[in-house]
Formats: sequence, C-alpha cells, structure tokens
Amino acid sequence: MDPRAELDELIAQVTERLRFYGEQGITDLSHPEISPVAGTPVTSLFGESPPTETLERIRNDLGDCRRCKLWTTRTNIVFGEGNPKAELMFVGEAPGADEDATGRRFVGRAGKLLDKMIEAIGMKREQVYIANVVKSRPPGNRDPERDEVAACSQFVFRQIAAIRPRLIVTLGNPATRELLETRAAISRLRGNFQDYPRIEGIKVLPTFHPAYLLRSPDKKREAWEDLKKVRDYLKGEL
Ligand code: URA
Repeated sequence: MDPRAELDELIAQVTERLRFYGEQGITDLSHPEISPVAGTPVTSLFGESPPTETLERIRNDLGDCRRCKLWTTRTNIVFGEGNPKAELMFVGEAPGADEDATGRRFVGRAGKLLDKMIEAIGMKREQVYIANVVKSRPPGNRDPERDEVAACSQFVFRQIAAIRPRLIVTLGNPATRELLETRAAISRLRGNFQDYPRIEGIKVLPTFHPAYLLRSPDKKREAWEDLKKVRDYLKGEL
C-alpha cells in the first residue's frame, strides 16, 4: 500500500478512536478504559501491517453519524454505492432531497443525467462507484459548510483508499476542491487530469456537476469533451 494512504488510514483510525473516547468523557490516554491500547507500542497495535480498509468497516465507523449539525435535519445517511473494485469513481457534493429520502446516491434529476453521462462512455452504473464528500443532506440543498466538509471528508478519502480506482471524476466545485486540496474554481480545472494528492497513481478529472448542467445546458458540450477523456483514459489511450 502507498505509504501516504497507509498513514491516512492510520490517522483516520486513531482520530476516530480518540473521538469515540472523547465522547465518553475520556481524555486521558492512560485511562484504564482504553487499556490494552494504553502503553502498547503503536507498531504493535495493528500487528505487522495495518488492517485492510474495507467499505464495510468505513460504513460501520460512520455509524449513525452526529459529527456535524446535519444529522439534526437529515432523514438518511447516503454513504455511496457501486462496484467496490471500480476503476472509475464519481464524487459529488452532498445528497439532495431524493437521496436523503431514499438513502441512495444520485437518484434525483441530477442522478438521471449522471446515468446518461456514464452510459455515454459505454459503462453502466454498477461498474462504477459513486459517492459524495458529505454524507448527509444540507437543508434546502445549500452548499455544505466548511465544518461539515471537514467532519465528513475523511470518509470519502477512506472510500477512495479502499476502492483504489484508476480515475476519479469530481463533480463540481466542492468535490474538486476537497479532493485536490485547492481553492481553484472548476471552470479553470475542468477537463484537465490532475494527480490525486493522497494516493500515488490515481488521477482526478474535474468536470461540471450534473445539477449545474441541468441549469446550464450550454455547458453539456464541454462536459462531453471531459467524458471522452475519461473513456480514452480508461481504455489506455491517453
Ligand atoms: N448531488 C450530489 O452532489 N450528490 C447526490 O447524491 C445528489 C445530488
């Protein structure tokens, strides 16, 4: 496993564990409640190598998440679904009303357009993996706020580390900015392959969010150019 991904996984696990203890009012690491962890050398906590990341483990860790205020207004957590060994992954922003009602990703109008985009490159929804940066719906479909993204993005990073796609297509500004660790706008980044900074060898191709394409159909031509690049890259032609 790539050392940076390995470190990210370990940090996510330790952070999660510390949060869990913190929620129970345990702030002292030598507390008997967290024995045998206390006093154990870090290297032996996970044996010779860290546990393999799986989508099931990530979903369990997410639990009935209350890490940000969105839990108070959501109906369902939308974790993401698709092929756990997908070569191609799509990452959107956050669930909308239809996704919140069903717990399934991209099932509303934007989702229907995303289906067409996937079909346009000769693939089926079941072949790819689709997830969002934020797993609970922001009320009224407002943009997710900084603290909400900060609380949630560890899970999409872990999903990426578990799936290890060859290519991630980020849909719109929030997903692109979070995955590429940039403030640059989608209008500048779209259509250009970037390196995913957390795992060597994974590429990111930003494109417009389907909800934006529904509002601005004149942009569909550019999105189609981006999709052709996706298709050619996966065929090994780019
Ligand atoms: N928009 C998103 O970014 N994600 C969804 O799941 C639905 C709409």
